[in-house]
Amino acid sequence: MRTFTTKTELQQYLAETRTNGKTIGLVPTMGALHEGHISLIQQAQQYCDVVVCSIFVNPTQFNDPTDLEKYPRPIQSDIEKLEKINCDVLFNPPVTEVYAGNEQWHLNIGELESLLEGKSRPGHYQGVTQVVCKLFDLIKPDIAFFGQKDYQQFLVISQMVKLLNLPVRLIMCPIQREPDGLAMSSRNIHLTATDRQHALVLSKTLNWVKENFDSQKLPELKKSAEAVINNVPDVELDYFEIANGNNLHPADQTTNNVIALVAAKVGKTRLIDNVVIRD
Ligand code: PAJ
Repeated sequence: MRTFTTKTELQQYLAETRTNGKTIGLVPTMGALHEGHISLIQQAQQYCDVVVCSIFVNPTQFNDPTDLEKYPRPIQSDIEKLEKINCDVLFNPPVTEVYAGNEQWHLNIGELESLLEGKSRPGHYQGVTQVVCKLFDLIKPDIAFFGQKDYQQFLVISQMVKLLNLPVRLIMCPIQREPDGLAMSSRNIHLTATDRQHALVLSKTLNWVKENFDSQKLPELKKSAEAVINNVPDVELDYFEIANGNNLHPADQTTNNVIALVAAKVGKTRLIDNVVIRD
């Protein structure tokens, strides 16, 4: 695997790759790699000749400084994981290589800015689009791969690609889960053993809503889901929404594309998860 920490060296390498007619796939991450990230890279390997994984803990998307500080950064074990699956390129820049100083950025992402994750994490998607736009501009991937785990993030990035007319195709990859259903996340390492058990209520409730979607009225389903989650000790529900998968507005029985999404603090750790109910 080739590892780059500077833009210039990465660009030089990718320019050669492109002149050789090879396609480039990008998997942006913040590291602390798990099977979810690995599945994205493997998917990228199916579609593209050269796969670039970026590892960059992006400060502008954190609205909580302690969250940024606490974010795991096990770079050595990440490198080993990437080498094991034959990832071609790692881009692992320092903050100064990505941000010149006090940069201004604002993209009009409409209601996605203020719904669900947008509402709970003000400014988060501005930071995400800012860094992803920089990565697209630098790497110029043919295809970029993102996880369904961050469903709203995928919608936001799709919106950015449309708004700025960026020449990149986006592919959404399925959520990878632990055998007991917990969605894999770099933040799971912060869960205590009891938190870990309590956290299972999220995926269990999402599946229960999916199974009962056709037999119960939507407001009742949502109410029951909220009650079940609120009943688990040390779990603080942020939102449970049954939404239109295109715009995240609350769904009704006639909505074609339905997704249930949840966010909750389990112990001290904020987790998100979702399940597609109707595609
Ligand atoms: P990060 O949380 O590291 O996630 C990187 C990618 O992995 C995202 O596309 C995310 O949706 C995907 N992913 C995370 N957990 C997954 C799981 N259990 N199954 C499948 N895919 C999963 O998302 C970010 O980083 C950042 O916001 C980033 C896009 C890199 C911009 O900084």
